[in-house]
Amino acid sequence: MRYYISDLKNYVGQKIELKGWVFNSRSSGKVKFLELRDGTGTVSCVYFKGECDESSFDNFEQATQESSVKVVGTVRKHPKHENVFEIGAETLEVLGKSENYPISPKEHGTDFLMENRHLWVRSKRQVAVLRVRHEIIKSIRDFFDGRGFTLTDAPIFTPSACEGTTNLFETKYFDEKMYLSQSGQLYMESTAAALGKVYCFGPTFRAEKSKTRRHLIEFWMVEPEVAFNDMYDNMDLAEEFVEYIVQRTLKHCADELKSLERDISKLVPVKRPFPRLHYREAVDMILKENPNFINGDDFGAPDETIISNKFDRPVFVHHYPAAVKAFYMKEDPKDKGFAMGSDLLASEGYGEIIGGGQREDNLEVLQKKIHEHGLKEEDFKWYLDLRRYGSFQHSGFGLGIERTVTWICGLPHVRETIPFPRLYGRSYP
Ligand code: 4AD
Ligand code: MG
Repeated sequence: MRYYISDLKNYVGQKIELKGWVFNSRSSGKVKFLELRDGTGTVSCVYFKGECDESSFDNFEQATQESSVKVVGTVRKHPKHENVFEIGAETLEVLGKSENYPISPKEHGTDFLMENRHLWVRSKRQVAVLRVRHEIIKSIRDFFDGRGFTLTDAPIFTPSACEGTTNLFETKYFDEKMYLSQSGQLYMESTAAALGKVYCFGPTFRAEKSKTRRHLIEFWMVEPEVAFNDMYDNMDLAEEFVEYIVQRTLKHCADELKSLERDISKLVPVKRPFPRLHYREAVDMILKENPNFINGDDFGAPDETIISNKFDRPVFVHHYPAAVKAFYMKEDPKDKGFAMGSDLLASEGYGEIIGGGQREDNLEVLQKKIHEHGLKEEDFKWYLDLRRYGSFQHSGFGLGIERTVTWICGLPHVRETIPFPRLYGRSYP
């Protein structure tokens, strides 16, 4: 039988064996304390001279920070704190010694921590972030699975560009030139015609040569696509989805968010409906604070912050100029020059977490768009077939997991939200 720290409440009064790593230790004369962590939590193991095995008391010197150890002792309630348990320890065995562990409790620079990411993930803060990430991913899966969506994974090797050619990651597929997927969207448009409501969830790649706090080279994206939805249905789905993720994470990850010192009062209001701004309204807001903004341009990070600071919850901006958006976006026949897409900007200046909209479903218009964007029609032959054989109105979006985790955890940078980040200038460890 394996015992875990998270389950100690079930074993009060019983003698059990725990295995884990030394988080911390201290001695004061006849008593020694060992903070043990096993991935499910931490517990204080108390060794009293005379009450524990003599050799264990001697082993204490060997049980340095991050050594792996086996502890045997009796579970008891903490004398002062409710719902806290400790171990009246009898034996201590060092399983794997850790000498000069590089990450000490003192402050370290980010470069150093990133270089030691494989060890840094053991720290309390990183454990909390990775648990929140896990809960967010689970809630995403449950949301779609509970609403009749089918998971249809998209390929990672792709012969063509979805999100423009400037940040395509080129690679080889035997002798052919290939790219790493920027988005699974085009493939979801195909499976949506087969299954109606679909999504993909996987890694995507953008060769962005920029060091910002929002950009990763490799990031995870979830992309639903729904047959016959228009751009407004698409926003309805996105806001229900984001509300669900945030409210469920608040409920299930209260301890983690607390240990991250997240001000959760900023997340409580994340409920439907979210405000929706036409690009023109958003531009008016931006110009009041950033007179240098050029009407017609895409928003920069400071512009997004100007908008999101006006609201207590995420905000949609829709109808961006078609010229700054991808080739597949449908131009609004009632609002010439503007695309039927929307971005969702997270609150508190965390920036765009969702991009999506209604897809161009007319064959000739789409062919024209492909040429205008400098793309090769032959690369999109299969995609154009979707407009040849039963074309249909459809919409979808992509949510970036790491930006969402950054926002919900209230972190300064995306790099701590994925176990092993790939950034411009960092691909180790
Ligand atoms: O806005 P994007 O580029 O949209 C698409 O890729 C669409 N094809 C999605 C769709 O409609 N199915 O990316 C969607 C989201 C962004 O809002 C952002 O959250 C995230 O993906 N994202 C990034 N996250 C981290 N690092 C990067 N370099 C990112 N680029 C986009
Ligand atoms: Mg976008």
